[in-house]
Amino acid sequence: MPDLFSPVRLGEVDLANRVIMAPMTRDRAGPADEPTDLMVEYYRQRAGAGLIVTEGVQPCPAGKGYWRTPGIHSPAQVSGWARVADAVHAAGGRIAMQLMHVGRAAVRANKAPDAETVAPSAIACPDPIPGPDGVPVPTEMPRALTADEIPGVIADYVLAAQNARAAGIDAVELHCASGYLPMQFLSSNSNLRSDGWGGSVAGRIRFVAETLAALAGAIGPGRVGFRICPGVTFNGMADADPAETYAALLRAVDGLGLAWCHLIHIPNAGFDALDLVRANWSGAVIENCGQTRDSAQALITAGKADAVSFGYAWIANPDLVDRFRMGAALAKADRTTFYTGHGDDARGYTDYPAMKG
Ligand SMILES: Cc1cc2nc3c(=O)[nH]c(=O)nc-3n(C[C@H](O)[C@H](O)[C@H](O)COP(=O)(O)O)c2cc1C
Repeated sequence: MPDLFSPVRLGEVDLANRVIMAPMTRDRAGPADEPTDLMVEYYRQRAGAGLIVTEGVQPCPAGKGYWRTPGIHSPAQVSGWARVADAVHAAGGRIAMQLMHVGRAAVRANKAPDAETVAPSAIACPDPIPGPDGVPVPTEMPRALTADEIPGVIADYVLAAQNARAAGIDAVELHCASGYLPMQFLSSNSNLRSDGWGGSVAGRIRFVAETLAALAGAIGPGRVGFRICPGVTFNGMADADPAETYAALLRAVDGLGLAWCHLIHIPNAGFDALDLVRANWSGAVIENCGQTRDSAQALITAGKADAVSFGYAWIANPDLVDRFRMGAALAKADRTTFYTGHGDDARGYTDYPAMKG
């Protein structure tokens, strides 16, 4: 019977164990949104994960909304990620890049002066977002994408995925959660379009379904996963019927042969999202949110999840898999250093030690 430490194959990617590092934005990219030496070291330290899913990475300048998040659209960014991928591979790990286009969840001062803020509809994200100095400020009013422009946004994601593969990254994960662009298309309160990209459940799921199909066509379905969080209200999301929306989405993409569905399983969605995924999706499932070693183990042995991802636990425990194996205590992460906004800030980033051997 498989357990948390058994190997597993997700699509085309072979994982040594089922303890995954969840994507975590850390705001430490260089001034050109390129990965730094410190980022190389941070990911290298965590290569014991069965799979690292990187922090959200913008596929294009318009996709950036937070301060010092990395991109994958310039040569310097691609070569920076190649150094990250090489370091993780040399340490025996695997790494997927999370593609994150924030859409309307953007602060003007955080992005390049000529980068627009776009969304399915011209409705501002109601939640403030930290600016360059870390103080939350109002988001920018987005411009609604025209129907003619939407294939260009999908093409940006495709180019980003090809860049990631050129950098040696093993797979990509489309970020469809947390109120960013794909979720803005999915949610009934942020997508008020009346053309074929909104207006009905079939219209609202189209952007995600077509983007996943395009990514699969470009780099192979076995190297493409996606992340969802049905029912979450972060960044102003409120779907009239998330169970209906996500069931339709999962059924629409089930035939693509994608590598995984990564579920952020929140307790207050009003329904059990893991049951919903299992009923409408036949591929691999990575379960996330508030898991412990024992609860993760139980999910794997019961066959409810193929792998489990951890966020907070990886921040302060670079050797998390070893600690789980030994039943060792976990170190606590310091929240004040989650997002420092400085590319050379090792505090709370690369200075958490491994257990003494
Ligand atoms: C500092 C921090 C940054 C995060 N950034 C991202 C992100 O870029 N993309 C994403 O999908 N989730 C992000 N998350 C959410 C985590 O991936 C994960 O879903 C969450 O921490 C719950 O898992 P946990 O209970 O194991 O920590 C972030 C979480 C934290 C703590």
